[in-house]
Amino acid sequence: MTATVSTVSGTATPGPTASDTATPLHPDAHWWRQAAVYQIYPRSFSDANGDGMGDLPGVTARMDYLSDLGIDAIWLSPFYPSALADGGYDVDDYRNVDPRLGSLDDFDAMAAAAHAAGIRIIVDVVPNHSSDRHEWFKAALASAPGSPERARYHFLEGLPDGLGDDGGLPPSDWPSHFGGGAWTRVVEAAGPRAGQLGQWYLHLFAREQPDFNWDHPEVREDFHTTLRFWADRGVDGFRIDVAHGLAKDMSLPLRSKPALEILVDDGSDPLFDRDDVHEIFAGWRSVLNEYDPPKAAVAEAWVPFTERRLKYARPTELGQAFNFDLLQAPFAAAEFRSIAEKCLTEAAASGASSTWVFSNHDVVRHASRYAFPDGSTQKDLEAWLLADGASPTLDLARGLRRARAATLFMLGLPGSAYLYQGEELGLFEVADLPVDSLQDPTWFRTGNTVKGRDGCRVPLPWSSFEPYFGFGGTPWLPQPAWFGPLAAAAQDGAAGSTLEMYRAALALRRELQSEESLEWLASPAAEVVHYRRPNGWQVITNFGAAPAQLPSGVDLAKLVLSSGGTDTPAVGAGTEAVAGTIEGETTLWLAP
Ligand code: NOJ
Repeated sequence: MTATVSTVSGTATPGPTASDTATPLHPDAHWWRQAAVYQIYPRSFSDANGDGMGDLPGVTARMDYLSDLGIDAIWLSPFYPSALADGGYDVDDYRNVDPRLGSLDDFDAMAAAAHAAGIRIIVDVVPNHSSDRHEWFKAALASAPGSPERARYHFLEGLPDGLGDDGGLPPSDWPSHFGGGAWTRVVEAAGPRAGQLGQWYLHLFAREQPDFNWDHPEVREDFHTTLRFWADRGVDGFRIDVAHGLAKDMSLPLRSKPALEILVDDGSDPLFDRDDVHEIFAGWRSVLNEYDPPKAAVAEAWVPFTERRLKYARPTELGQAFNFDLLQAPFAAAEFRSIAEKCLTEAAASGASSTWVFSNHDVVRHASRYAFPDGSTQKDLEAWLLADGASPTLDLARGLRRARAATLFMLGLPGSAYLYQGEELGLFEVADLPVDSLQDPTWFRTGNTVKGRDGCRVPLPWSSFEPYFGFGGTPWLPQPAWFGPLAAAAQDGAAGSTLEMYRAALALRRELQSEESLEWLASPAAEVVHYRRPNGWQVITNFGAAPAQLPSGVDLAKLVLSSGGTDTPAVGAGTEAVAGTIEGETTLWLAP
């Protein structure tokens, strides 16, 4: 075999012991380290009661599908009571279920079904902000400035507007993530200014999402209660929304920050990735460690990749943080290789396990992203959405081919793979949703100039011929006709389908995953990346468009899976690797 270029070593994951295996869900404290986690966006997954909105009984009803897919855990985006100003990330009550999505009993039934199928459950915790319908925020609005009720959020006096109103301008220039400013002024209900415009409250996201004041002990305590509430109900892990945003520098005068990007990530940013956020998560780890096995957690922290990101993932904090680097990278050998190498090295050094993700409910689906002309930017994606997908014309066959190759590259790596519902069907972004169906606050807060994220949230197609492709009632976002052939039932058992490729990969991945390490192997072509796991499994990806020479010594008799074209068999040696070559934009898996 070709010479070793570099090695990353990590922690061995202990397997189940004989006594562990008595139940389908053996109490392995390390289950999350190399788990395949499937993200369910509940409103769009499966609608059991026919009201057009996916629900928890819909998830329960699809448990066989999830089990056949071969995932280890599901992560549920918020299913809590919510006005859906931001798709459920505006939470009214952290310890309940939105009646449109079911009840706590439905949650328990879903959790029991998942656990019986050997599937663990991760729920989303949204600690940066509540909804404006949360009882604490309603109490804050009903109370006077300076009251204890206001202290759980960030209420401040405004600045003079020079036109006679001493508080007519917002307290700072901070923008909101979804467009517009991050402050909204209230009409006071109590106190000397009752009936008049008064203080401003902070919302880094939509107006309906007031930010909590994490210096307040009741806020801290209440989230511990929420963690225990769901942990006691059998939840196995938590995904922490905007984890890097909780600790803020609110000392007056507030510092100017006209853009939300972290320009210098050294802890000095007033809003994100401040050092004192870690004390919050150390407290959470103590709560999570009250359970045996300890509950898992993963931080959503969009911070640059330095050792600062890894702090969230330390064993003394959450255990994992999302690495969005591959998601943001072009489909290219050098980028993929160096990102994977860096993530693995840093994870091993910090005691975390790495995470990988290509798609989620916030980004354009990766089968579409990879179909753009090379060099396209986020702005190009936004312009394409605004043009209803009319320009540029995407090369969808290429996008799907690359997406499949990227997925197999990623599923072979040590660490956890986070998959987004529908990617196993090779779904593309729905770019031409009618504007009157759009629901993302981005669309409204940018004055209809940025469409936002609805195109990756369209309810799933389950069968080609049933009404609404078997989703349930009239979907809350309309499904395009091209969903039909991509429906799960249409791909079930179809050789070469994306669904069958995911199933085969996830089944084989259970053999492939071993010690959290890999060896990068030399390859004769710059476009080809080749690695080997300690147990001998090999993964080879050709990122180039043209066929390339395979590394010497590769024994194609060991080929067990190829990402090859949808018209060729996914399993076994198809036309993807013959006569010492590997087809363009293809990944091969070789067994030991
Ligand atoms: C990140 C979530 O993934 C996104 O959907 C949401 O809009 C923001 N956080 C605000 O909660």
